[in-house]
Amino acid sequence: MKNIRIRGGRPLDGTVHIQGSKNAALPMMAAAVLHRGTTVLRGCPKITDVFFMEKILEKMGAKTSWKGSSLYLDCSSLENTDIPDQYACRMRCSVILLGALLGRFGRGAIAPPGGCVIGDRPVDLHLDLLKTMGTHIEKEQGSLKAYTPSLRGSVFRFGKQSVGATEHGMIAAVLAEGTTCLENCAREPEISWLAEFLNNMGASVTGAGTKRIQIRGVKALHDSVFEVPPDRIVAGTYICAAAATRGKIRIENPPLTELSAFLGVYSKMGGQYDSVGGKLIADGSRAWGPVTRLETDVYPGFPTDLQSPVMAVLSLARGKSHIRENIFEDRFRVAEDLVRMGAHIRINGRDAYIDGAQRLRGCRVRAQELRGGAALILAGLAAEGETTVEGLGFVERGYEHIQEDICSLGGEVVVEGSLPVNSNEEDTVKR
Ligand code: UD1
Repeated sequence: MKNIRIRGGRPLDGTVHIQGSKNAALPMMAAAVLHRGTTVLRGCPKITDVFFMEKILEKMGAKTSWKGSSLYLDCSSLENTDIPDQYACRMRCSVILLGALLGRFGRGAIAPPGGCVIGDRPVDLHLDLLKTMGTHIEKEQGSLKAYTPSLRGSVFRFGKQSVGATEHGMIAAVLAEGTTCLENCAREPEISWLAEFLNNMGASVTGAGTKRIQIRGVKALHDSVFEVPPDRIVAGTYICAAAATRGKIRIENPPLTELSAFLGVYSKMGGQYDSVGGKLIADGSRAWGPVTRLETDVYPGFPTDLQSPVMAVLSLARGKSHIRENIFEDRFRVAEDLVRMGAHIRINGRDAYIDGAQRLRGCRVRAQELRGGAALILAGLAAEGETTVEGLGFVERGYEHIQEDICSLGGEVVVEGSLPVNSNEEDTVKR
């Protein structure tokens, strides 16, 4: 078990550079499969989920390498169309590889995909979309086997806005015959970035960022280089860390527009921010205000991925807050550990009622998933005494160097232990 030990009570103060976005990089890596050549992702985050995806691509026959923070993906000799179970079942977004494989080879197989334990997380929309585009899908020995003579451009309306399914549709349609029109699409920034990435490879995608995306199928793609934009969730997490410790941080490369809903809530808490010359200064020294009602929503609403970090901050507020989680039904697991640290939180289904405790005390707690784990680290930074957060591997799925970042901001943290072989937290692919 890999743990992080935190000595709390120090306001954070310093400058941080935000890593490339996890949720942008992963679908781009999957989309690289479409091209018989090389795709380079500059500023790709070195996080476990990226290493998982890299390992999957290698197992399928791709050649991958790193030069600094640039990830080179050469998929010219990729031929194995079975997505290895060992990794796929750990990472939910691996399902979108199926669309890329179908686009390039007309076949693909995957075990039911996994991911963080934050709810049911079905893949019905993904499969319905592929079926509409002319794919036959069969369940065989617990695996989904998909094949198509050729994907055909279609009109598909998502019954519900889904980030992953929208990305899947875009990727599947790139090499399909004719034009695909996706309706009721999610509008998250990662979708617009994926469209830019695909167009940079020679695809023809328009409308990303709106509810209606059109993809005109092309015959082939070309080598490309793309810079992964900064991670809005990591940026929001560090702003929450400053707020929880009543500190002040400077972000060198803030994804400002994409943080807009979060910054609105941060302002309600009393957090102040200023953008100067493209940098963001977030002063959380007075961020003790409660938020009477906060609801997570699809973009441009408040992101579910920042709900747990904000809950940690609201646990320290001077008053009562209410959070409603509209995206994932089981995303309040962290509350139990926050309560152990002295927070006053009552959960009722999708609602969390938080009576600001104003102070937390350090103790031993356990990360159960990525963002909840990050929230516990924030709580530890603000708490009196020492906190040990077990299960740092969950956090490393999405945060590239959380220990170094916190230390550079003046926080006191030490990483202890290592991961056992076959750990569920992480895999041995980390390098
Ligand atoms: C992505 C992000 C994740 C973020 C989430 C919501 C990545 C790698 N992950 O996850 O960090 O928390 O968006 O912003 O980008 N749903 C269905 N059927 C489906 C697909 C989804 O019912 O086939 C439901 C889900 O259960 C959930 C909702 O739709 O309730 C939204 O999920 P979705 O947007 O698909 O999330 P992900 O793409 O998995």
